[in-house]
Amino acid sequence: MVKICCIGAGYVGGPTMAVIALKCPSIEVAVVDISVSRINAWNSDQLPIYEPGLDGVVKQCRGKNLFFSTDVEKHVREADIVFVSVNTPTKTRGLGAGKAADLTYWESAARMIADVSKSDKIVVEKSTVPVKTAEAIEKILTHNSKGIKFQILSNPEFLAEGTAIDDLFNPDRVLIGGRETPEGNKAVQALKAVYAHWVPEERILTTNLWSAELSKLAANAFLAQRISSVNAMSALCEATGADVTQVSYAVGKDTRIGPKFLNASVGFGGSCFQKDILNLVYICECNGLPEVAEYWKQVIKINDYQKNRFVNRVVASMFNTVSNKKIAILGFAFKKDTGDTRETPAIDVCKGLLGDKARVSIYDPQVTEDQIQRDLTMNKFDWDHPLHLQPMSPTTVKQVTCVWDAYEATKDAHGICILTEWDEFKTLDFKKIYDNMQKPAFVFDGRNIVNVDQLREIGFIVYSIGKPLDPWLKDMPAVA
Ligand code: NAD
Ligand code: UDX
Repeated sequence: MVKICCIGAGYVGGPTMAVIALKCPSIEVAVVDISVSRINAWNSDQLPIYEPGLDGVVKQCRGKNLFFSTDVEKHVREADIVFVSVNTPTKTRGLGAGKAADLTYWESAARMIADVSKSDKIVVEKSTVPVKTAEAIEKILTHNSKGIKFQILSNPEFLAEGTAIDDLFNPDRVLIGGRETPEGNKAVQALKAVYAHWVPEERILTTNLWSAELSKLAANAFLAQRISSVNAMSALCEATGADVTQVSYAVGKDTRIGPKFLNASVGFGGSCFQKDILNLVYICECNGLPEVAEYWKQVIKINDYQKNRFVNRVVASMFNTVSNKKIAILGFAFKKDTGDTRETPAIDVCKGLLGDKARVSIYDPQVTEDQIQRDLTMNKFDWDHPLHLQPMSPTTVKQVTCVWDAYEATKDAHGICILTEWDEFKTLDFKKIYDNMQKPAFVFDGRNIVNVDQLREIGFIVYSIGKPLDPWLKDMPAVA
C-alpha cells in the first residue's frame, strides 16, 4: 500500500488529502500538523474549516485510509510521498518584509523530513512558493540525507475556497513539475498515478519544476488582475452612468475574454491573491525587472483603492460623518460559503468606518465574534502566521458588536454595508429591515447582489458598486 503523508492540515492539506483518500482506497493518507487543536477538530464532528461537501468526504474515509495526527515524525518516516502544505505567508520583518514569502515553516518541515527519514521519498511542494524554492529545499534535504534519495516535485493547488471539493473532484488541470532526469520522471509518473485514479489523463500536465512553481503565481496574478480591471471600470461606470454589470457581460461575451471572474466588488480578499502577487513582485525586483514588478503592483493598488473608495462613499453619503452612527455589516468572510476571513475586504472597510468613529454591528453566518475581534485588532500580515504563535489580542474593539441575525444587525442602523455575497442576503425582507432602521436609510452593496430598483422603491438610498448613482449620492462630495 502506498503511504502518503501531508504536513499541514489547513484549508489545502485537509480537503486535498480527504479527496485523495476518497478516490484512492488503496492509498493510506495521514495528514499531520503541529497544531493540536486543528488535528483534534479534524478528528471531531466539528471540522476546523467550513467547506461545502467536506464533511461527507471526511466521514467516508476517516479511520479507514485517512488519518489526522500530531505525530508528524512517525507519519513522515513511514510515507512514500510527503506533501508539504504549510503556510507560506508574507514576511513581516527583515529582508523583503511586506513582500517576500516567509519560508520559515517550509524550511522547518524540510529539515524535519531530512532528519527523520529512513527510506527514499518523493517530497511534493503543495504550498504556493517562490519560483526556485525546490532548489533550496533540495539542498536542505540532501545536505543531511544519510544516503537517502529525495525527489522534489512541484504540485501547486488551484482549488478555491467555498468550492474546494468540486474543484478537487473535477479540476481544470493538475500540474506536476519535476526534474528532467530519469529519477525525476519516475517521481512525476508516481504522483501522476495517484491523480489518475479520478482525473482524466489529458488534464494532468507535467512541466519542469520552475514552470510549475511559477504557473501557480502567474495563475493567481491573472485572476486577481481581472478583478482589479473590472473594479477599475466600476469607478469609471459610476462617473459616467454606465452599469458595470452590463459592461462585464458585454466584455465577457468575447470568447477570447470569457465571462468568469468579472464581478465588480468591494475588492478581492482571501489568503492567496495579495500574498502571491506581492511574492511575484518581489521575485521580479530580485531578478532586475522593476517594470514587470510595477505592472503587477498595480493590481494590489487598485484593490486597495477600491476598498478605500467604498469606505469614502459610505462616509460621504452619510453627510460626511458616521461618528456614533450604527452601521450594519452583512458578511465578514472574504467570499460566500467559507468562514475564512484572511485578507477579507471587510477588515479594511470596518477599520475605515471605525476610524470615523462608527458603531458597527456585524453578522456573518460562518464567522465567530472571536475571529472578528482578532481580525480587527491584528497587524497587517500577522494573520497567516500559525495560530498557535499568535496570542489572542487582549483588547477588543468596543464599537463592534457581533450578532447572529441580519435583522438584529440592521435594527436601528443608519446604513447597511453588504460585504460578502451570502445567498441568504439576496432573500432578506428589506421592507421589514427598512421599517426598523433610522432614516434616511442607506444600503451600500459591495457585492452587487440586491435589486437596486426594488430597494429604492422601498425608500432606501442605494449605492451598488459600478451602477448608475442614486440621485442622492450624485449630490454628495466627490469620492477620492
Ligand atoms: P493554513 O494556514 O490553513 O494551513 C497550514 C497549516 O500548516 C497550519 O495548520 C499550520 O499549523 C501547519 N504547519 C505550519 N508549519 C508546520 C510544520 N512545520 N509542521 C507541521 N505543520 C505545520 O494554510 P492553507 O490555506 O492550507 O495554505 C497552505 C499553502 O497552500 C499556502 O502556501 C497557500 O498559499 C497555498 N494555497 C492555499 C489555497 C487556499 O485556498 N487556502 C489555495 C491554493 C494554495
Ligand atoms: C483563489 C484562486 O481562485 C484559486 O485558484 C487559488 O488556488 C487560491 O486563490 P480563493 O481565494 O479561495 O481562490 O477564492 P476566489 O474565488 O478566487 O476569490 C478570491 C476573491 O476574489 C474573493 O474575495 C472574491 O469575492 C473575489 N472575487 C472573485 C471578485 O471580487 N470578483 C470575481 O469576479 C471573483
